[in-house]
Amino acid sequence: MSDEKRCPVIRFDHNSPEHSADPVGAYRELRQGPKRGWTDASGGYWVLSDYDSVFEAARDDDIFTSRRTDSGGEGLSVVIPKTPMHLHIPIELDPPDFRKYRKIVNRITAPAAIEKMRDMVERHTTEFIDSVIEQGECDLTSVIGVPSIVTIDWLGLPIEEWQRYSRAHHAVLAEPQGSPAFEQATKVDLPYLADQMWDVIRQRRAEPQDDIISYLVTQEVDDRPLTDDEVFGIIDLLVAGGVGTTASLVSQALVWLAEHTDVRQRLIDDPSLLDRAVEEFLRFFSPTQALARTVTTDVDFHGCPMKAGDRVLLAWSSANRDETKFDNPDEIDIDRWPNRHTAFGVGVHRCAGSHLGRLMSKTLISSVLERMPDYTVDFAALKRYPRQGVNMGYVSIPARFTPGKRLLPVTETV
Ligand code: HEM
Repeated sequence: MSDEKRCPVIRFDHNSPEHSADPVGAYRELRQGPKRGWTDASGGYWVLSDYDSVFEAARDDDIFTSRRTDSGGEGLSVVIPKTPMHLHIPIELDPPDFRKYRKIVNRITAPAAIEKMRDMVERHTTEFIDSVIEQGECDLTSVIGVPSIVTIDWLGLPIEEWQRYSRAHHAVLAEPQGSPAFEQATKVDLPYLADQMWDVIRQRRAEPQDDIISYLVTQEVDDRPLTDDEVFGIIDLLVAGGVGTTASLVSQALVWLAEHTDVRQRLIDDPSLLDRAVEEFLRFFSPTQALARTVTTDVDFHGCPMKAGDRVLLAWSSANRDETKFDNPDEIDIDRWPNRHTAFGVGVHRCAGSHLGRLMSKTLISSVLERMPDYTVDFAALKRYPRQGVNMGYVSIPARFTPGKRLLPVTETV
């Protein structure tokens, strides 16, 4: 990166405690001011906050690459600062190579493939709710472990380890870098889980089973089988994408519905409203707040003098509150339609797991509304993630409800 001045210069750091205290306010200030700007935080990066810039940059892979480069340090290219990670495929590739791998992922994440997972998603959801339903109180974040266990089960990784996968991937995105939880995740848990994943990949090559890892080891690119390294890069991305995002969405939606019991009653009375409601929760809460790209060539982008190698943050969450695109963007309107939100990203890298994310969110929200229709949340005891710059959500959601009956025998529950 060259030392030339960038402008406009803004005060912004999506990893700071100030940002975490009010991410919506920080982005609103930027949108109502210069919209785009350069911050010196984390070695320096551009921030794009308005819908049009985020949309345009996300669709221009030539200028805004997702490829792993050495700009901004070593590690995962789509976050700022980069975190140490194995190369994630296909999110860290650009077309044309990108397409060869995305095609392989699309086959297992297309609507028809995800529909076949419905029974499994419903079973895990029932098990989780069963584990607390007789008590009349629980931490709702424990129920929201469902996306993690579904992802681990689907891939074919050891199901009893689901919490360790969930905790480690969550810590990398939501704990402050250098904190004990971050260090535990990057230095202990992720290397341990990586060894486990390598083992499973080798086992599935030898003895295929009915799971995603067995499917991946039989796939080909350029007329040759995927290497173990490539399979690892795909699985690691599916775990990272699968475990935190849906939990973040559902936890925020459930807290909001506890505050807005009139809307909750409408959803209980007419579950068909949930389809649009989930799109609106996606827009409003934007579980993946912002992701990064790297500039490939010197360019003037809407008046910003960008230089090759500059890092750029695309704020999906801010685009989703752009008042020029959404009426009353700071209000949740579960009937909002059309709803062209950017919560799943934009362009070729648009979320490969969107259908699974929607299935899990709807199953979880509708099951909680059906089985705990009167739940209340202890708002004073709510605890948010320490860092809200990439994934927003809660560490703890203490809740009470009228106890109900289990649906499965005790032995089958988590
Ligand atoms: C509410 C749930 C989810 C949200 C909000 C979300 C958000 C996103 C976003 C914003 C991107 C774009 C990345 C970029 O442009 O750099 C993305 C990509 C991706 N997501 Fe999701 N995601 C969700 C659920 C899932 C699930 C359940 C999975 C998998 C099991 C998943 C797997 C992926 C993958 C593989 C990519 C990379 C796609 C590519 O590069 O072609 N996501 N997601």
